[in-house]
Amino acid sequence: MVIRRGTDADAGRLAALAEGTFRDTFEADNAPADMHAYCASAYSPEIQRRQLGDSTLDTFVADDGAALIGYAQLRPGAPAVVRGPDPIELWRFYVDRLHHGRGVALALMNAVVAAAHARGAQTLWLGVWEQNSRAQAFYRKVGFVDVGAHQFVLGTDVQTDRVMARNLVSPGDVACG
Ligand SMILES: CC(C)(COP(=O)(O)OP(=O)(O)OC[C@H]1O[C@@H](n2cnc3c(N)ncnc32)[C@H](O)[C@@H]1OP(=O)(O)O)[C@@H](O)C(=O)NCCC(=O)NCCS
Repeated sequence: MVIRRGTDADAGRLAALAEGTFRDTFEADNAPADMHAYCASAYSPEIQRRQLGDSTLDTFVADDGAALIGYAQLRPGAPAVVRGPDPIELWRFYVDRLHHGRGVALALMNAVVAAAHARGAQTLWLGVWEQNSRAQAFYRKVGFVDVGAHQFVLGTDVQTDRVMARNLVSPGDVACG
């Protein structure tokens, strides 16, 4: 398994992975119409192709040689609740469920932290659904703390995300976890 930057050639497989992992994670707890509306607005080969070509974003994929098994994306900006200096958002962070608990997430996180650092960010933040306890446990394990809340709209459903952040002291410090 390697972690590498996504390229234009990954657009189709990335769109399938992104929608598949989103549905695996949230489908059981949300209305089908809300899931459909969100997925239609967020995932298609053309949408992911645009994101892969967007120089303001960083997209990493975990590639096991046969398939993409995880991905992560960084984007600029932060809400007011994030008070740390020079923030950047860990916008998306997903690993195929067959590969949870195997270190893929930590490898992706190390790539994300290095890229955020390279962009001059000092604070890495994310929003995570308040009911997503596994992801919150992982983020705490790699140094994120809860700094507040913000809203996330899934179709017509207004949900509460916990906002978590960590200081980017050095690009390598997550590895010690
Ligand atoms: C979030 C994610 C990338 C983390 O990767 P992972 O491989 O599952 O992470 P790890 O197994 O290293 O760590 C998860 C921790 O949660 C704990 N955990 C497992 N199941 C849990 C559960 N049902 N509830 C709470 N904690 C749980 C584990 O014990 C583990 O901690 P440990 O290593 O100290 O035992 C992965 O779970 C994932 O892709 N989930 C679905 C998509 C998602 O939620 N993305 C985040 C969107 S903000």
